[in-house]
Amino acid sequence: MDQPRSQFQAVWDPLVRIGHWTLVIGFFTAYLSGDDLFNIHKWAGYVVAAYVLTRVVWGFVGTRHARFTDFVRGPGAVLGYLRGLASGKAKDYAGHNPAGGAMVIALLFSLLVTTSSGMALYAVEDNAGPLAGIVTEQTFAPIAGMLNESGEKPEEEHERGSGHEESAAEELLEGVHKAFVYVTLALVGLHLAGVVASSLVHKENLARAMVTGRKRRPD
Ligand code: HEM
Ligand code: HEM
Repeated sequence: MDQPRSQFQAVWDPLVRIGHWTLVIGFFTAYLSGDDLFNIHKWAGYVVAAYVLTRVVWGFVGTRHARFTDFVRGPGAVLGYLRGLASGKAKDYAGHNPAGGAMVIALLFSLLVTTSSGMALYAVEDNAGPLAGIVTEQTFAPIAGMLNESGEKPEEEHERGSGHEESAAEELLEGVHKAFVYVTLALVGLHLAGVVASSLVHKENLARAMVTGRKRRPD
């Protein structure tokens, strides 16, 4: 706080900052409304998907520290940073550190699979949403036999029991959707642990920097 202003620099642009906190709200809203409240679920999920797509484009054309080339590093750099974190002597970076950069990619990928499997499920179940007509039962026809443990055709499955029986495509997409929700949650847990660990080691509140956009210049 009592450091001169010049020791700070603008790192995160408004798209990254506003996008991040919109993502956090969108993700948890989608998570909490997944079981019922489908209308809210759908729109929260679309917000997350829109952010992810925008962020991927911004990773190529955005401001300096928003670009993938600024923070995507090899496994050696990631391990080196994590080792430094463990010994309390991790190198300070202006933008994302190498481990944080790997986490950004993992989070974006996991969110992409979560949202696109949700949209595909919606298309197959209700023939609605942005993938309606693009992803259909037929899309999965070539692998439906393999997916059906009993080897029955999806039509036969439909006839069994009362109410709506799930087709192989629905079962697959629902499985992927749910699995990636949990993958994302696990990554978010690691992400938060990383933010706390790096904040402690570098003696800088990184969550606040994601609000103000400003970070202390690395030594
Ligand atoms: C209250 C909870 C959260 C806090 C305090 C937080 C904090 C942060 C911080 C400090 C950064 C910058 C890391 C750095 O300095 O290198 C960051 C980046 C990021 N976080 Fe979070 N985060 C939270 C929740 C989430 C959630 C729930 C998600 C995803 C579902 C997420 C996804 C991301 C992504 C994708 C980035 C990269 C930002 C970019 O480069 O555009 N965060 N977060
Ligand atoms: C990051 C964003 C998202 C998260 C965290 C999320 C999470 C969830 C969760 C927790 C469930 C409940 C699973 C269960 O019943 O155990 C669910 C179901 C579902 N989600 Fe998502 N979802 C997201 C995005 C989307 C999107 C964009 C769509 C497309 C419209 C979508 C469509 C669905 C559908 C159709 C179901 C099944 C609802 C049902 O039949 O009960 N999701 N999601």
